[in-house]
Amino acid sequence: MNGLAIVTGASRGIGEAIATELARRGAEVVLVSRKEPGLREAEARIVEAVPGAVLHVRTCHVGRGEDIEALYDSLPSTPTMLVNNAATNPYFGPMLHAQYAAWDKTFEVNLKGPFELSHRLARRLMAEERPGSIVNVSSVFGLEAAPFQGIYGMTKAALISLTKTLAHEWGPAGIRVNAIAPGLVETKFAAAILESPELTEHFTKRAALGRVATPEEISGIVAFLLSDEASFMTGQCHAVDGGFSGI
Ligand SMILES: NC(=O)c1ccc[n+]([C@@H]2O[C@H](COP(=O)([O-])OP(=O)(O)OC[C@H]3O[C@@H](n4cnc5c(N)ncnc54)[C@H](OP(=O)(O)O)[C@@H]3O)[C@@H](O)[C@H]2O)c1
Repeated sequence: MNGLAIVTGASRGIGEAIATELARRGAEVVLVSRKEPGLREAEARIVEAVPGAVLHVRTCHVGRGEDIEALYDSLPSTPTMLVNNAATNPYFGPMLHAQYAAWDKTFEVNLKGPFELSHRLARRLMAEERPGSIVNVSSVFGLEAAPFQGIYGMTKAALISLTKTLAHEWGPAGIRVNAIAPGLVETKFAAAILESPELTEHFTKRAALGRVATPEEISGIVAFLLSDEASFMTGQCHAVDGGFSGI
C-alpha cells in the first residue's frame, strides 16, 4: 500500500488499530488527535509493532476549520487516503433531556469535522488531478435506533448520507468515499456501555457472534476500502458488528 494516509483519532482505540494496519501494509501515516502526549504514546506502540513505520504526528481538533487547514499545510504532500475516525459523544441519556450544547459539539466533531477534512482534501486532489480514497467511521447507531445516544446516532446516520453524496459527486474525479458501521468495540469511547453488564448484554445478546469486538477487528476492512483492492467500491456503508444489525 503506497501513499500518505491521515487517520483522525489515532491516539488510541480503533484509530490506533487502523493506523497500525495501514503502516503494516506500507502506507505513510499521519496520526491526528487533539493531544500530543497520547499521539506520541501511540506512535511508540506502532513503531514497536511495525519496525520502520513512517509516521507523522499532528495535533488537530477536527471541529475547527483553521486546525484542519494548518494540518494539510504542514504535510510533506497531499494525502491520497483519509480515515475520518475521531468522534465524540458527550451526552448519554434520553432525548427528552438532551441539551443543545451537547448537540452542537457532537455535530461539530462527528459531522462537520469529517466534511471539512474531506472537502479540503478533495479540492487539493482535484487540483493535482490525483485519485483518492476516504473512509468514514460511522456506527451501528447510524443504522438503527440509538437509545440513550440519540444525538450521536443522528450524526452517524448523517455521516452515512454524507458518504453517499460525496461518493456520487467525487466519483468522476476518482475519489472513492465509503463508510463502516462498527458494533460495540472495546475502547475508552464505549466505557459507559462496557462498565454496565446490563448494557453490554443488551448488545452481545442481539449480536450473532455474541461478543464485543477488539479494535483490530475493525482495522482490516478500513485498510481494504482504502486500497486498490476496493477500486470499484464507493458510496457504501459496511456494517462490522458481529451480526448486530440487519440480520
Ligand atoms: N468503541 C465503540 O464501541 C464504537 C462503536 C461504533 C463506532 N465507533 C466509532 O469509532 C470511532 C473511534 O472510536 P473509539 O472507540 O476508538 O474511541 P476512543 O478510543 O475514545 O478514541 C477516540 C479518539 O478520537 C480523538 N478525538 C476525540 N475528539 C477529537 C477531536 N475533537 N479532534 C480530534 N481528535 C479527537 C481522541 O484523542 P484526543 O483525546 O487526543 O483528541 C482519540 O484518539 C468513533 O468515530 C466512534 O464513533 C466506536
